Amino acid sequence: MIPKIKAPEVVQSIQWKDDHIRIIDQTYLPHREFFLDIFEVGRVWEAIRSLRIRGAPAIGIAAAYGVYLGVKDLPEDSLQPFHTDVEGICEYLATARPTAVNLSWALGKTVRLAREMENEPVAKVKEALLQLAMSIHEEDKRICADIGKIGQELIPEGAGILTHCNTGSLATGQFGTALSIIYHAHLGKKKIQVWVDETRPLLQGSRLTAWELEKTGVPHRLITDSMAAWVMKEKGVDLVVVGTDRVARNGDTANKIGTYGLAILANHHGIPFYVAAPVSSIDFQIASGKEIPIEERDAGEIRSVGNQQVAPAGTLVYNPAFDVTPHELITAFVTEKGIVRPDFSKNLEKIRPQQG
Ligand code: MRU
Repeated sequence: MIPKIKAPEVVQSIQWKDDHIRIIDQTYLPHREFFLDIFEVGRVWEAIRSLRIRGAPAIGIAAAYGVYLGVKDLPEDSLQPFHTDVEGICEYLATARPTAVNLSWALGKTVRLAREMENEPVAKVKEALLQLAMSIHEEDKRICADIGKIGQELIPEGAGILTHCNTGSLATGQFGTALSIIYHAHLGKKKIQVWVDETRPLLQGSRLTAWELEKTGVPHRLITDSMAAWVMKEKGVDLVVVGTDRVARNGDTANKIGTYGLAILANHHGIPFYVAAPVSSIDFQIASGKEIPIEERDAGEIRSVGNQQVAPAGTLVYNPAFDVTPHELITAFVTEKGIVRPDFSKNLEKIRPQQG
């Protein structure tokens, strides 16, 4: 029998090592655990764009390190060109993926720090940018652990739990968001059964979540996305818990395509629908989900499964990577600041950070 490992050790999605980034390249999972070393900012952009590193918090962390990789070899003799370059690098990294607000959140923190230090020596600013990336990374680990500890109280003994996409250690600094809740219930010795949606088109559920749960010994069963309604009706799903890429001020929530459908199904069956959300995923700049940009991805992701073509080569395709679940369908948000219930417009405001 393969020994199971504890959830905190399942994997480090991203590491800072000898002045470069090391990620586990998620496009190879579950077949191969391949670690990719990244030394320059263009490769960080590519890794985010092609989902080698993915999940809202993880791409924020990667981008923050990416800025440092972009600036670390810049000349240190004059201030102004350096600061123009920092801002240019942040704008460039922000174009890698549009939906997850954690990317612009991390880059916004970076720009603000550089502006605050605009009269300091360049070498000092470089060092501060690296320290900022490391602190975003470490802070995310703590936040994810807190979300797990707070959220596991919502999980009854013997619960059936349905989840979508991957929200685990792979998607964050450690533990995850929705998956952290599941890990903490399991570590607390609650008997649970997780239903894992495969999550077409890129199969983050089957390739990544099933891989994490297998490694950690959390009881789970994989289903195709189209089975969710039937599983809710027949198999005793007690709650749905998902992550998020961006929450608007009124609670409308963008997450992996298919989440909206699950929320409708949960509502129909009278099942609570929870969203695990670090405060960094709440976009206090936007009033509702109408303002969330939805990434559209390549048609090839739908016409093929892996390398296997499953549709005629010329078939027209629509491939939104995310959808927006209206706030009325959400029972509560689990954040590191506590559980937030409706009225979301009022109650999310109470956990709004002073800045950023
Ligand atoms: O396209 P992906 O794989 O980056 O999408 C990820 C998701 O939708 C996750 O649910 C979300 O980022 C939350 S991760 C803690």
